[in-house]
Amino acid sequence: NLYSLAAFPIGVAVSAGNESRSFLDIAEKQTSIAQHFSELTAGNIMKMSYLHPSEQTYDFADADEMVNWAGANGIGVHGHTFIWHSDYQVPSWMSNYSGDFEAMLNDHVSTIADHFAGRVESWDVVNEAIDENQSNCYRNSLFYQRLGSDYIAQAFTVADAADPGADLYYNDYDTEGGNSEKLDCLLQIVDDLQASNVPIDGVGFQMHVQIDWPSTSQMRTAFQEIVDRGLKVKITELDVPINNPYASTPFPQYTSYTAEAAALQKSRYKSIVETYLDVVPSHLRGGITVWGLWDGDSWLLDFDEREGADDWPLLFSGPSNGPYEEKAAFDGVAEAL
Ligand code: XIL
Repeated sequence: NLYSLAAFPIGVAVSAGNESRSFLDIAEKQTSIAQHFSELTAGNIMKMSYLHPSEQTYDFADADEMVNWAGANGIGVHGHTFIWHSDYQVPSWMSNYSGDFEAMLNDHVSTIADHFAGRVESWDVVNEAIDENQSNCYRNSLFYQRLGSDYIAQAFTVADAADPGADLYYNDYDTEGGNSEKLDCLLQIVDDLQASNVPIDGVGFQMHVQIDWPSTSQMRTAFQEIVDRGLKVKITELDVPINNPYASTPFPQYTSYTAEAAALQKSRYKSIVETYLDVVPSHLRGGITVWGLWDGDSWLLDFDEREGADDWPLLFSGPSNGPYEEKAAFDGVAEAL
């Protein structure tokens, strides 16, 4: 089993609750998860719109089901996420909120952190707050529009007060080196938080990467910057599709999951994990999470008009004709660990 090879969490994102079938119904998936993973992230149901559907209502039922299953099986939970701008994940009542926005948002963070305190080992406190095309780096989100950049520091402070035991992360994509402007923005935000003694424990790198992008040396630089600041590095949403639709240089595109494609993907997964282990010292390893168990789970099937185009981005295949099967990519991760 994968997790026993590592002294840090090996996680997987799971669908659950109102997102699809109840997580507890998916018995065969639970078996593979319990066998190989030591941490879960909810793919959707711990986001704002699911947990906080109206101002006065919190709905914890689906998330509690998942979190309690994890606890009963000795599996940790990484909370995702208190604050994220994404249209369909922000409850509409919040977008139109006319009261004291700061007090409302603080209550949101505090209520959720308090509810899960002791059952969640870490949180993505704020997700995707950076827009590297803005001169000050901040995405012009609902939260930024209402509160300015202070909402980020506030969220960490409030979360820490409600659950002092949880590790608190800032989480984003494309910061692992493919976009140096975005990495610079990340470091500026982290430096500002640290200079103000805001309780941040680490940085989450989503790492929705490609086979050929970014380079491992770019990842190395990005991880090292965080390590140099004494913060934990967590790979929070790893997936490596086999085809890169954005490739600017000729890159093989596969219409089926060939042995050659599997081998390429295996070596890419392996080198990512090796880079992580090489750069991040053990006390700063927040863990590595893949964004879904098997290829059919992947959000990439719907993202960027990839509908129908299979990219085989994850560690397992299956399950239509039997149990989830470990792919070559799984072996790559296991060999690196
Ligand atoms: C994705 C989920 O996997 C999808 O099911 C949903 O439709 C959209 O969100 N970055 C994140 C995750 O931080 O929350 C996103 O998850 C994937 C990109």
